[in-house]
Amino acid sequence: MANDQILKNTNAKILDEFNASIMFDKELYSQDIRGSIAHSQMLQEQGILTKEEQESIESGLLQVKEEIESGKFEFSLAYEDIHMAVENRLTEIVGEPGKRLHTARSRNDQVATDFRLYVQEKSLSIKGLLKELIEAFVSVSDKHTTTLIPGMTHLQHAQPLNFAYHLLAYANMFKRDFERFESSYERNNYSPLGSAALAGTPHNINRDSTSAKLGFKAPSAHAMDSVSDRDFALEILFNISTSMMHISRISEELVTWSSYEFQFIRMSDEYATTSSIMPQKKNPDVPELLRGKTGRVYGNLISLFTVMKGLPLAYNKDTQEDKEGVFDSVKTIEISLKILTQVIKTMIVNTEKMENACKIGHLSATDLADYLVQKQNMPFRTAYYITKDVVAKANSLNKDISELNLSEIRESNEEIKDINEEIIMYLDLRNSMNARISYGGTSTIQTVEQIKDFEEWLINN
Ligand code: ARG
Repeated sequence: MANDQILKNTNAKILDEFNASIMFDKELYSQDIRGSIAHSQMLQEQGILTKEEQESIESGLLQVKEEIESGKFEFSLAYEDIHMAVENRLTEIVGEPGKRLHTARSRNDQVATDFRLYVQEKSLSIKGLLKELIEAFVSVSDKHTTTLIPGMTHLQHAQPLNFAYHLLAYANMFKRDFERFESSYERNNYSPLGSAALAGTPHNINRDSTSAKLGFKAPSAHAMDSVSDRDFALEILFNISTSMMHISRISEELVTWSSYEFQFIRMSDEYATTSSIMPQKKNPDVPELLRGKTGRVYGNLISLFTVMKGLPLAYNKDTQEDKEGVFDSVKTIEISLKILTQVIKTMIVNTEKMENACKIGHLSATDLADYLVQKQNMPFRTAYYITKDVVAKANSLNKDISELNLSEIRESNEEIKDINEEIIMYLDLRNSMNARISYGGTSTIQTVEQIKDFEEWLINN
């Protein structure tokens, strides 16, 4: 009998290959089965399925799940996608009740539900990985609140920082990422199930029930919108892209810091690679790959934006192109976060190199200008030009401004010929770092406060 055959809606073999999504959307098998179980339970509550029918559907679906997880399930192109593959196998197992499962739903709300469940689950697990990375930054920071490192702008030496402060900038970025995944989760926490093809259904269903069973906050408010909406997928792609951009920035610094010219850090042997030809080399392949993988993640975001931009309402098959990029970006960020966490935890910090590098480039020059403003009530611009003369003097003596003695400073410019000897203290590099006590500044006092705030945040999140 025709209606006992597998549900198949293509003819040409090449079309099977082109039309099918099973080879990648099998990733959604567990969400599909979860969604179907919830749907069948609701259908029974509403008197649309009998208790026996629902029970045989549910146990059949659990058997399909078991078959998939044990590798027994045959993923065939003939079934087109995971939704039809599961339904067909279910019907093979349980017979007639299997054919009743698709009552009051369509693959359009089914795929929207499955994919949304996947994105929600992944948002939570990525948040967990971000938290572990933040923990790594905070614990390394804790050891380096007094370690000096040259702070840079334009990659030129600017002002002295402590290394913890530099690392905590990244902890802040990843904390914002964490919050971004969280707010997307909340915004998208609505169940499309029961929207049916595009317009709802005449069956007496209960969308609140399936929504609650699947852990959503509520059913989505508009059937046609929710079968067409892929904002949740775009949001996770954007959130992942932003995190990868942050990962890429720290990676760039790790590459620079581990170069011969800097030698601020050494990557632990476990996370560095060797050259196939130059036996002496240790290469930063890991941060380079992290930096490189950022590109494909951006590509996935732009690709889905482009798929969505011209689509009329409601469902269009173009939307099937939404999945592979999301799966790829999710896998990429997961492994990237895990590996970066290890790199940060295990890197060897060369505090001596960092501190010595601070003696190049007159990092405390701004402190002289600030001193003249604060102690001598000088207009900042005047102080700026006087400081320029002191820098010139230091250059002529081949010294850093922090190494000048009092008479050398006084000789630099007429206006400071009587400057108080306490200026020597102000030009000291560590004092310069510690002088920046404004909220969010680099002083050790402020940095320690910031670490405390993070520790509290880590406990509460
Ligand atoms: N495989 C499809 C997708 O991923 C499922 C929905 C198909 N719906 C349809 N009416 N053709 O989008």
